[in-house]
Amino acid sequence: MLMGGPSVWPALLSLLLAVAASFFCSAIPIDEARSQLLMREKTMQLGGQLVLKKEEELANERLMALKKAEMKQAMETQKFPPSMHFFQAKNLIEKSEVFNILKKMPKGAALHVHDISISSMDWLVKNVTYRPHCHFCLTRNGILMFKFAYPTPPSPAECSEWILLEKYRKKLYNVTEFDNSLLSNFTLMTKNPEVTYANQDIIWSKFETIFFTISGLVNYAPVFRDYIFRGLEEFYQDNVFYLELRAMLFPVYELNGMIHNQEWSVRTYREVARMFAKEHPGFIGLKIIYSDRRFRNVSLIMKSIQTAMMLRTRFPKTVAGFDLVGREDTGYSLYYYKEALMIPALQGFKLPYFFHAGETDWQGTSIDGNLLDALILNSTRIGHAFALIKHPAVWTESWKKDIPIEVCPISNQVLKLVSDLRNHPAAVLMATGYPMVISSDDPAVFGAKGLSYDFYEAFMGIGGMTADLRTLKQLAINSIKYSTLLDTEKKAAMKTWEERWNNFVADLARRPK
Ligand SMILES: *[C@@H]1O[C@H](CO)[C@@H](O)[C@H](O)[C@H]1NC(C)=O
Ligand SMILES: *[C@@H]1O[C@H](CO)[C@@H](O)[C@H](O)[C@H]1NC(C)=O
Ligand SMILES: *[C@@H]1O[C@H](CO)[C@@H](O)[C@H](O)[C@H]1NC(C)=O
Ligand SMILES: *[C@@H]1O[C@H](CO)[C@@H](O)[C@H](O)[C@H]1NC(C)=O
Ligand SMILES: *[C@@H]1O[C@H](CO)[C@@H](O)[C@H](O)[C@H]1NC(C)=O
Ligand SMILES: [Zn+2]
Repeated sequence: MLMGGPSVWPALLSLLLAVAASFFCSAIPIDEARSQLLMREKTMQLGGQLVLKKEEELANERLMALKKAEMKQAMETQKFPPSMHFFQAKNLIEKSEVFNILKKMPKGAALHVHDISISSMDWLVKNVTYRPHCHFCLTRNGILMFKFAYPTPPSPAECSEWILLEKYRKKLYNVTEFDNSLLSNFTLMTKNPEVTYANQDIIWSKFETIFFTISGLVNYAPVFRDYIFRGLEEFYQDNVFYLELRAMLFPVYELNGMIHNQEWSVRTYREVARMFAKEHPGFIGLKIIYSDRRFRNVSLIMKSIQTAMMLRTRFPKTVAGFDLVGREDTGYSLYYYKEALMIPALQGFKLPYFFHAGETDWQGTSIDGNLLDALILNSTRIGHAFALIKHPAVWTESWKKDIPIEVCPISNQVLKLVSDLRNHPAAVLMATGYPMVISSDDPAVFGAKGLSYDFYEAFMGIGGMTADLRTLKQLAINSIKYSTLLDTEKKAAMKTWEERWNNFVADLARRPK
């Protein structure tokens, strides 16, 4: 039976004939038109302007063959790691050949990571909580706290008493079980994330609790030094050679309760990074972006802006600037802080900003407006900018000003902004070649390490089938280009990176097919 009845059929037929005639007679055949469009999009996309050398072309062929095979398998099994929750995808990712190549790839710099989530939580449990004089207690709300002290200090207000871990473990029947319970207090990892974390309030609450819990461990002076060193090591092993760390510079304490100030912490970061560089060829260093929390009122943020200016003056090579951190949706907006954030400009002081902005799904809210203010306040880079594609005027302007965004795919998924990373808004920006870097935000809390897991998600999920070696090369170059290293330092960093890149490419090109 014909749809619409026989009366419409002749009209339809003549229309079809007309369309066919115009197609066969048109100047540009369909294939040519398609390939022109494809070519245009290829040059628009991130890395599309790069011309690969011969060996890079070979390496790209190897890489893309593996990528295609993994994509094909994913389509068959309907199991594609970037479309799964990271906690469930992690094991699968680790089996991926592409992931293993990404681990070896020199990725340049990590430009969006936070102070107390750069070293594996496993190490905190296995090493730090086993050190002498480590106490813990459970608050009435069941939240763990830690403190190193000698002798055992009086009970804190929140708990009944401090318990010495060394003594406590001796009495336990199964220490492994206890250590596992500690570990699950230190990360968001869980078997059924969708069930455990039904909404953003629940996951952010646990996220913040983790930082509260581990702060007593990390901010103990001897641990603080080791923690930084260990973090640098984990990134270095992941082929990342430079970091810009958002740091809150909380008081670091000694065994006798003595407390250090923020300058001490900055000096310690600098010392540890220098010591690390001596032992690790090619390591470039570490800078701090001093950060305060966006739930604090404007008068307190005014004080921390003063602190940021003081630190920037005293440590111009270590302190890169200022940021506001914490959950955007429930925090104050940048606009609310405008009086505080204008202080440096009004005094003629150059305090670079690196705002987290647009880490939200709530379009059109005051928080969503943070993207506007990040641009107006001349943010050097924008953290996440997850909502950027919903703001075409901001997007155009920030592109003109060459303001890159720091994309942290796993963070955005775990914190429930997007579930299938193929739908991450950065896909649009990547396809148009908007300047960006890939980073890992709080890898240790998410059960990730270094940058490779996030590179995998970006390369396979966000970039899709069109992202290739040029995309990866551009991302690595961007991480140096958009860092706050001085021009001379950037040149040196690029040189070191290029040497490693060439070795990586040579290895990849030589892989058997
Ligand atoms: C922890 O690691 C440090 C090296 O970072 C090592 O010297 C120390 O012995 C370790 N402590 C424990 C209790 O494992
Ligand atoms: C201790 O707990 C771990 C983890 O739950 C388990 O694998 C192990 O068998 C337990 N050991 C003993 C002696 O019960
Ligand atoms: C945190 O650790 C405590 C003490 O071992 C344990 O009772 C609790 O179940 C742990 N919490 C989680 C979420 O695993
Ligand atoms: C800001 O917060 C601090 C600490 O909570 C408080 O002491 C102060 O009164 C507040 N200032 C204003 C202006 O609200
Ligand atoms: C941002 O840059 C513009 C143009 O250079 C300048 O006029 C303005 O004062 C800057 N704003 C801040 C907050 O630094
Ligand atoms: Zn962040």
